[in-house]
Amino acid sequence: MAHRELLERHRAVMPDWLALYYTEPIELVHGSGRRVTDAEGREYLDFFAGILTNMIGYDIGEISDAIRAQLGSGIVHTSTLYLIRRQVELAERIAELSGIPNAKVFFTNSGTEANETALLLATTFRRSNQVLALRNSYHGRAFATIGVTGNRGWSPSSLSPLNVSYVHGGYRYRGPFRHLNDARYVAACVDDLRDVITTTTAGNIACMIAEPIQGVGGFSVPPDGLFAAFKEVLDEHGILLIADEVQTGWGRTGEHFWGIGAHGVTPDAMTFAKGIGNGLAIGGVIARPDLMGCLAANSISTFGGNPLATAGATAVLDYLLRHDLQANAAKLGTRVIEGLRATAARCAIVGDVRGKGLMIGVELVEPGGTDPSPRAAAMVHELTRRRGLLVGRGGLFGNVLRLAPPLTLTDDEADEAIGILTQSITEVNRELTR
Ligand SMILES: Cc1ncc(COP(=O)(O)O)c(C=O)c1O
Repeated sequence: MAHRELLERHRAVMPDWLALYYTEPIELVHGSGRRVTDAEGREYLDFFAGILTNMIGYDIGEISDAIRAQLGSGIVHTSTLYLIRRQVELAERIAELSGIPNAKVFFTNSGTEANETALLLATTFRRSNQVLALRNSYHGRAFATIGVTGNRGWSPSSLSPLNVSYVHGGYRYRGPFRHLNDARYVAACVDDLRDVITTTTAGNIACMIAEPIQGVGGFSVPPDGLFAAFKEVLDEHGILLIADEVQTGWGRTGEHFWGIGAHGVTPDAMTFAKGIGNGLAIGGVIARPDLMGCLAANSISTFGGNPLATAGATAVLDYLLRHDLQANAAKLGTRVIEGLRATAARCAIVGDVRGKGLMIGVELVEPGGTDPSPRAAAMVHELTRRRGLLVGRGGLFGNVLRLAPPLTLTDDEADEAIGILTQSITEVNRELTR
């Protein structure tokens, strides 16, 4: 009842294009650890964490204390016209963690703003508005970031300050090189990159922007080393590499602290947001000092890196490192992937189970082939909710289940989610193969 009434008010005043999950959308009103409770009293294990954003979980004492302490000082905001101790300290630590020599950090409020800033820097530095992006990418909702988003479902406008060419590589399962082994796949993508540079640009390209694992695109994972192979070509032309780490950063992928780490390259800039605030609005760009320094006019983010957000983010980073959550992501990610691959082997509707660490995609297909099955995804999505598990959906066709719980996940919770997913996928498989 509480949900129905709020839904009617939501529909009356909020835009239609702001999508809600589930045929009967829910409001989450309480959270603790990895569990949330809705306004009608039902409890869920949260395997999407506010789109990978509640990275540590809910109601974490150390983080809440740090936020309360900052609130208690009376200073929530000062603007960057004044020194902000927390901001400087956090920037020092992030710069160090980035691996980019002498890196500088600029804080924003979101991933979109972070990517807009990185694109502004690269295009100014290289004096070119030509940019390379990957097909099936998602980078945000402003004009430049929509411009580098290679997914029709998230591209509401063709207006763009950039001249963008798209290359293959990010989405392997349905890409034209899917039948090739890793080495040949990488070689084919590199050939495509060279061809795109030669045939679709005027030369003097500013940068390539890429998600190491595509998030909105359905947690699709390219072979390790793809971006190293790309970077060799980019370096021949002086093209900068921007890694969009908004979803893949902070150890979520388990084996590396940054998603790009799987490729053995250091990008010229990285962008981050989502998880580092554990719910507080914070994002940013980390860049080579010459790149960060190239703007010849003032630029400011009024709220970016404010004392409250940076106090919270510092506590998040402390927690993350102290508890080695990257190792936990690696361990439990393997457990979830193996559990789901066992289910997939018995269910014709599962086309692909992929991912790294606690970033796992389950691509659902029509039985008997590989046609995308958004209907199977919708059915499993509803069933898992009814059984007390929240998961995400995504992919170009809306047919990929996205699993990304807080990195503090426990063994028992991982098994609980595998159980609910297995039950739900098996049930839908039975229904669709009848
Ligand atoms: C890879 C990636 N980049 C950028 C963004 C945009 O971030 P925000 O929604 O904070 O603007 C997102 C959001 O989902 C994302 O997944």
